[in-house]
Amino acid sequence: MKILSIETSCDETAVSILEATGESTITYRVLGNALLSQVDIHKEYGGVFPTLAKRAHAKNLVPLLEASLEEAELLYEDTQVIQEELRTQISEMLEREPELRDALFSFLTEVEVPEIDAIAVTYGPGLAPALWVGVNLARALALVWNKPLVPINHLEGHVLSSLLTRNSEKEYTLSTPPLPLLSLVISGGHTELVLSKDWLSYEKIGQTRDDAVGEAYDKVARMLGLSYPGGPEVSRLAGEAREADLKAPYKLPRPMHDSDDYDFSFSGLKTAVMYLLKEKEVWSEDEKRMLAREFEDAVADVLLGKAERALLATGSKSLVLAGGVSANSNLRTIFAEKLKEYEGFTLYLPDRALTGDNAIMIGVAGYVKAREGLTIDPSALKADGNLVLS
Ligand code: KG4
Ligand code: ZN
Repeated sequence: MKILSIETSCDETAVSILEATGESTITYRVLGNALLSQVDIHKEYGGVFPTLAKRAHAKNLVPLLEASLEEAELLYEDTQVIQEELRTQISEMLEREPELRDALFSFLTEVEVPEIDAIAVTYGPGLAPALWVGVNLARALALVWNKPLVPINHLEGHVLSSLLTRNSEKEYTLSTPPLPLLSLVISGGHTELVLSKDWLSYEKIGQTRDDAVGEAYDKVARMLGLSYPGGPEVSRLAGEAREADLKAPYKLPRPMHDSDDYDFSFSGLKTAVMYLLKEKEVWSEDEKRMLAREFEDAVADVLLGKAERALLATGSKSLVLAGGVSANSNLRTIFAEKLKEYEGFTLYLPDRALTGDNAIMIGVAGYVKAREGLTIDPSALKADGNLVLS
């Protein structure tokens, strides 16, 4: 089955085409993958600015769609006539994105219907204005090309793609993990512990009560004068401190580390960093490195502590790290070291190429869902910024 997938939930615009085969073990070949990050647009705001994100998605989606189809060798020129009724329907759908509508019409009238079997799109959670752009494009394509439409939860995309094993540059395998599976979803918008007693069923057992872990990374980076997104920058500084064996002479708090639940809190940690930085005017590069290291250690202690508590209490047989922050080297090392103490337990760390937002992860979930018959009528699909994993 060939799946076209679209992701626009935050600040990456992405379109992929995957070829998926198999039943209990699924093989995915990446036929086309086009991604554009808006990092440069949002840098000056130190975070993602929704209106600008929406505008950039609307501008870039059709060129990325074209590039992805081209790479997959599925793009053939032809003259197509779009029936008047469909044209009206799509015009209404895209009335708030006139630029996307015009680009789409000229694209659709010049190419053959591509040989794909389904269209998967992220419909939440994320920034609603950004999500709507991808959702509306997917609805329009599903209507004009008469293809099944598969709505995907962004977090499920992160989780399922984090379970993949890479076979070669463009091929991955997905097998059902040993159950129960515990997912630690750590991104710019989410910090959640999710339990799957059964394959593809999810129960959120804990979450952050304030900031997401990626958000804390980004805010601390900003305080240290580092650029957005801050995670990789803070991680780089912390790595330099470890390399040079520099350790802070103080301890930052480990919020909620010992609380009797699976919840998290990172705003107190962020505030502690802020107060610490205010203690003196000038911070040397080495002092910043030590602070970054101590911050990372505090984050890792809390995440590992909660994950361990949850996996012991639930009798989980496997754990997966998912979301942008799972690219973090220190976390990956600490989880791998600590969890190897548990016999017969499987830890899944995502392929680094798939940790940030991308459309491959949406296609991965798309195939799984399409096989379950979880498609939707294009006229019924709505973006949902607050969608939960359930
Ligand atoms: O999943 P993602 O790409 O987007 C959301 O769905 O939010 O996650 C982005 C977050 C950002 O906060 C970014 O700073 C963080 O992931 N991040 C990292 C690293 N790489 C990205 N945080 C810590 N260490 C990293 N290496
Ligand atoms: Zn994400």
